[in-house]
Amino acid sequence: MRIDIISIIPEIFYSTFSNSIIQKAINNRLINIKIHDLRKYGLGKRKKVDDYPYGGGSGMVIRIEPVYQCFYKLLSERNYDEKIFMTPDGTIFNQKYAKSLTYNKNIIILCGRYKGIDQRIRDHLISKEISIGNYILSGGELAAAVVVEAVVRLLPGVIKNKNSIITDSFQKKEYFIAPPIYTRPKIYKGWSVPKILLSGNHKKIKDWLNQKAIQFKK
Ligand code: ADE
Repeated sequence: MRIDIISIIPEIFYSTFSNSIIQKAINNRLINIKIHDLRKYGLGKRKKVDDYPYGGGSGMVIRIEPVYQCFYKLLSERNYDEKIFMTPDGTIFNQKYAKSLTYNKNIIILCGRYKGIDQRIRDHLISKEISIGNYILSGGELAAAVVVEAVVRLLPGVIKNKNSIITDSFQKKEYFIAPPIYTRPKIYKGWSVPKILLSGNHKKIKDWLNQKAIQFKK
């Protein structure tokens, strides 16, 4: 899978994507992530990417020309299954949505900044709009990083132990919370691991874990 991210602050992604799982996936060629600096496509000497809103109002708006130019270049190189815009008024992202994105070969993720982006970008260049929650971030970059991380760890081969993914919260069912987990030491400052987990009785342990997992309907 290839993900092209368009942003005016590409630096945000460098450390985020150098964490172990994403970096390993990149090294193993399971994912190809390209970050594009929108300013490269900016207007004039100063590489301007934003302007005042028509009709007045506070805040700056990302202009359509730099975005169009960047899209034009990418779309002339390959086909993209989705062209996503990160926005707080988009469809709320969840595990099911993450899974659905793994079936794509190439996707573009556009990150907004300032007050917003020219509506014509949304109307004519974008195929999906995603929100990571009902709150306002200063831009789409952190939201895009959340989407990329959630998608990449579901790609075949990225996490070796498939069982680890299957038992994650929200994975089996949308409203499934994984049971609590423990590791050594058995007792720390008087706080002990539930006895049943140390019993060696696999059937009983499985029942206990099932009982502790929370399954609820929306
Ligand atoms: N950009 C700003 N806030 C956002 C959010 N909550 N989700 C996605 N993109 C955003």
